[in-house]
Amino acid sequence: MRRISVHASTDYDVLVEHGLLRQCGSLLAGAAVTRHFVIVTDDTVDELYSKDLLHALDMAGCKAECFVFPHGEASKCSGTLLKLYDFLCESGITRSDCLIALGGGVVGDLTGFAAATFLRGIRYIQIPTTLLAQIDSSVGGKTAINIPGGKNLVGAFKQPSLVICDPDTLKTLPGHILSDGIAEAIKYGMIRDPGLFALLDAHNSDNVLPQADEIIARCVTIKRDIVAKDEFDTGERMLLNFGHTLGHAIERHSEFAYTHGQAVAAGMCMLSARTAAPAVTARLIGCVNNYGLPTDYDAPMQELTALCGHDKKRMGGELSYVVCPAIGQGEIRKASFPDFCRMMEESL
Ligand SMILES: NC(=O)c1ccc[n+]([C@@H]2O[C@H](COP(=O)([O-])OP(=O)(O)OC[C@H]3O[C@@H](n4cnc5c(N)ncnc54)[C@H](O)[C@@H]3O)[C@@H](O)[C@H]2O)c1
Ligand SMILES: [Zn+2]
Repeated sequence: MRRISVHASTDYDVLVEHGLLRQCGSLLAGAAVTRHFVIVTDDTVDELYSKDLLHALDMAGCKAECFVFPHGEASKCSGTLLKLYDFLCESGITRSDCLIALGGGVVGDLTGFAAATFLRGIRYIQIPTTLLAQIDSSVGGKTAINIPGGKNLVGAFKQPSLVICDPDTLKTLPGHILSDGIAEAIKYGMIRDPGLFALLDAHNSDNVLPQADEIIARCVTIKRDIVAKDEFDTGERMLLNFGHTLGHAIERHSEFAYTHGQAVAAGMCMLSARTAAPAVTARLIGCVNNYGLPTDYDAPMQELTALCGHDKKRMGGELSYVVCPAIGQGEIRKASFPDFCRMMEESL
């Protein structure tokens, strides 16, 4: 089993091993001070994995109830949150009890926010079942829900007590959801880890991820190291945004026809083409292509940069963005918004 220890305001471990979901009862019991859990999950993941988790908890002498909501981003909202609070009241959850987020980033963000706020804070454990959740959203302690004013506008920093990643759960993921997560894995390779990039570059399938445990562990280690230096997102955590400033603009411009992973993949390639040596961009494009992810987005650059102006990383007229002059070497750059637009809009 791979163990990545995270040192933040609360210390916790991220455990990665094939088959861990079926055997995690004693690990869950050990990370909590209770034998009473509430599992929060969506309907798709419930069908696939709740039974295994309930059995594992039962074997460890724990009891659990399941709160299940419809899958999809639309459920990450105040309506679902209020229903979850009601469920926790009915279940008699006390401050010493523990929530378990079983699912993708939607489940993790919503459960984490409920754990941060219910009874002014209770423990929660993450069991992420998408690649994106395993390598990104379950680590770092950012939790949130969406409100009509925008995505992730209401949230809290709340670290989990434990994260359990079972790469076997990725086998049931539809290919396009897996490749969304792969875009983030490529990002980690680009900003910090040429070895990880090489591992990803060696494969070429959008349906399976060989050496998933190694890839997950490397990504989590990078996120751990960056978050340790910047738990509350005021500086170095910006590195994790490689491809995201442009990516968010592409998501919005396409009216979300491009998924987050697709937009980030295109955003990384388009930014790299303007800021890195051609050989670096060629390798990035080759790797992104391997997984059926887009390397470009067809729209006038002015329309995209106009949307970059809304990015929340823009502060006081300055915009921060990340460049990778070499694979594994992400650097944060700052520019005035007009200078950033000029750089992006210059024809290649
Ligand atoms: N907190 C953070 O730091 C952070 C970071 C990145 C993204 N996020 C958030 O994460 C969310 C996106 O996460 P996501 O991509 O995991 O989306 P998701 O949770 O909606 O999962 C995607 C789909 O996959 C299904 N699914 C999950 N696991 C499965 C499995 N093993 N087999 C088959 N189907 C499965 C789900 O039911 C869902 O329909 C967004 O809300 C985003 O804002 C948070
Ligand atoms: Zn992302």
